[in-house]
Amino acid sequence: MTSSQREFQTIGVIGLGTMGAGIAEVFARNGFDVVGVELNDEAVDRGRQHLEHSTGRAVKRGKMTEAEQKALLDQITLSTSMADLASADFVVEAVVESLEVKKQIFQELDGIVAPEAILATNTSSLSVTEISTANTRPGRIVGVHFFNPAPVQNLVEIVRTVVTEPDVLEDVKALVGRLGKNPVVCGDKAGFIANTLLFGYLNHAVAMYEAHYASREDIDAAMRYGCGYPMGPLALLDLIGLDTAYEILDTMYKQGRDRLHAPAPILKQMVTAGMLGRKTGRGFYTYE
Ligand code: CAA
Repeated sequence: MTSSQREFQTIGVIGLGTMGAGIAEVFARNGFDVVGVELNDEAVDRGRQHLEHSTGRAVKRGKMTEAEQKALLDQITLSTSMADLASADFVVEAVVESLEVKKQIFQELDGIVAPEAILATNTSSLSVTEISTANTRPGRIVGVHFFNPAPVQNLVEIVRTVVTEPDVLEDVKALVGRLGKNPVVCGDKAGFIANTLLFGYLNHAVAMYEAHYASREDIDAAMRYGCGYPMGPLALLDLIGLDTAYEILDTMYKQGRDRLHAPAPILKQMVTAGMLGRKTGRGFYTYE
């Protein structure tokens, strides 16, 4: 058997925020056993609530029975101990966008997972190469960048570094295919493919709003009705989270120094004021 025919059964997910919980759900929905790890009991509870809310939405819409929801949630074991990842064949890290925190996790994973396990980071903008240097097996590390909401968006960007082993890349592509998602492969540069193209546009919309050129509703309506986008840019920023969006723009700006990605000043002000979008109930719009 070549390693590109490799079977995965147990998936570890580290960090159960919006993205991590969504990723855990996607794997569980596709028949994998998932071990989700968070820092402490409160964070585990928040992760559980994310999972219950998201799968509850499917029950409400008649897409899943309550029994199926329970079976799906039972496939996800939640824990506060990284040691519980010992049986994982594939681990996705989806914690805060901090190089230091991510490197510490990859260092810790060294002593926990089997040597043949594949490790991945869901970073949106940090260097996968840099993160992978914290581990003794950087060749078995890739970026797997899911999109928000992870259970819905059908793209996963797979980020290869200069040392990623070719069979690891093939295995991860096949795994993403098993999730019913489309893998695309790119190199390790902040923004990857989609965010590099998307965030210049989102930033421009914020600048337009900041300059009182048009109302938030009209900016969003223009792109929805004129260009067929499912959401306007300001509503999308609220979904992504203004803190996440700011970090992505700032990292891309610092790496490329192009004005397109210099974060619009109001974005930082809104983040400082705690207006992070849907997750705090207020961003460009207000939410119940
Ligand atoms: N979690 C789980 N499922 C969700 C969801 C969520 N947060 N939001 C919506 N859904 C599901 C619904 O349950 C529904 O599922 P079914 O079709 O199976 O019933 C489906 O999505 C459609 O939902 P709605 O009918 O409620 O709403 P909609 O048709 O307006 O779609 C949307 C909502 C999917 C968010 C859509 O507006 C959309 O695709 N928006 C653009 C999102 C986007 O661009 N994401 C990328 C952001 S960039 C990024 O993520 C990268 C990064 O690094 C930050």
